[in-house]
Amino acid sequence: MPNILTYPIYHQTNLATRRILVTGGAGFIGSNLVRYLLRNGVGLVRVLDNLATGNLDNIKKFIGRPDFDFVEGDIRNPEDCVRAVDGMTDVLHQAALGSVPRSINDPLTSNAVNIGGFLNMLVAVKEAGISKMVYAASSSTYGDSPHLPKTEDRIGKPLSPYAVTKYVNELYADVFHKVYGVNTIGLRYFNVFGPWQNPNGAYAAVIPKFIGLVLQNEAPLINGDGEQSRDFTFVENAIQANICAMEATSPEALNQVYNIAFGERTTLNGMWEILANLSGTSLKPSYGPSRAGDVRDSLADISKARKLLGYNPLFDLKTGLESTYQWFLNVESETK
Ligand SMILES: NC(=O)c1ccc[n+]([C@@H]2O[C@H](COP(=O)([O-])OP(=O)(O)OC[C@H]3O[C@@H](n4cnc5c(N)ncnc54)[C@H](O)[C@@H]3O)[C@@H](O)[C@H]2O)c1
Repeated sequence: MPNILTYPIYHQTNLATRRILVTGGAGFIGSNLVRYLLRNGVGLVRVLDNLATGNLDNIKKFIGRPDFDFVEGDIRNPEDCVRAVDGMTDVLHQAALGSVPRSINDPLTSNAVNIGGFLNMLVAVKEAGISKMVYAASSSTYGDSPHLPKTEDRIGKPLSPYAVTKYVNELYADVFHKVYGVNTIGLRYFNVFGPWQNPNGAYAAVIPKFIGLVLQNEAPLINGDGEQSRDFTFVENAIQANICAMEATSPEALNQVYNIAFGERTTLNGMWEILANLSGTSLKPSYGPSRAGDVRDSLADISKARKLLGYNPLFDLKTGLESTYQWFLNVESETK
């Protein structure tokens, strides 16, 4: 496994001629994408974000650079989408309201952002004549399907409003190709984690939340028995997938959805054990009721992305967790 500090380059391409819009670029995955693109000499990267769940701190240091542009705006507003795609060669659409529980508590807002906003982006991309939109889809689309590993063409019924929104994205993308000739690639992310992920709040994802608790010397609460499993995916693998998708041109690769994961599953108890070992904590988790809308097990078959996108994830859970834990430790010591 390579060391994250070597920062791999995922595609030998000349980014200098590219002007790339990253929606949701102040968020976790989006800001990691922005850093990758700037590190590798992109002509311009523009972020469209309304800072609903993202954090300006994630991109603040780039503001003022000639190769960086921040548009504060809302994908629910069609004019903001038109303004953001103006002059762009590529679009990596990450903006959405994540979290299954958030969508259960407020389905209207998740629907408006994740479906209405997605549609606004598709229309803006079509009108601007941009050849392709790469977008963040989700493993939640597998819903109640019991089959493992998950293969792209075999989905179940959604288990949450969030899952509905992400599935509708795929349906709209498909229709926009058939009706208007807009090309898309959907990346069904599986539990992405890494640096710059928000550890705080009711809707925090499990890995940053647990790391945050370890650093505060507090024991985590696991929903359910901890034997539910996930295909935890280090964010660098998701970045690679976006770059591969952005560069894909073959007709077989376009207008498809792909599982983006490492391709191994680990239980929550197993993940905690790795984290406990690398942090040296003796804290023990407590257990509570299972969460509504959660799937029991998740494991991706990533052979389609390997074959058609050339996706080759480089970082497993352990390597990613070490890197993420170290990052949070550094942030914590800087703020002390
Ligand atoms: N993190 C994961 O494990 C995971 C898994 C599956 C899918 N996804 C998807 O990946 C994408 C990125 O997720 P993330 O984990 O980085 O979440 P995040 O919350 O850190 O990032 C989302 C970004 O979108 C922005 N945003 C939200 N509503 C907006 C609006 N109306 N207009 C403009 N910007 C808006 C937020 O401010 C934030 O910066 C999302 O589409 C999410 O659904 C993430």
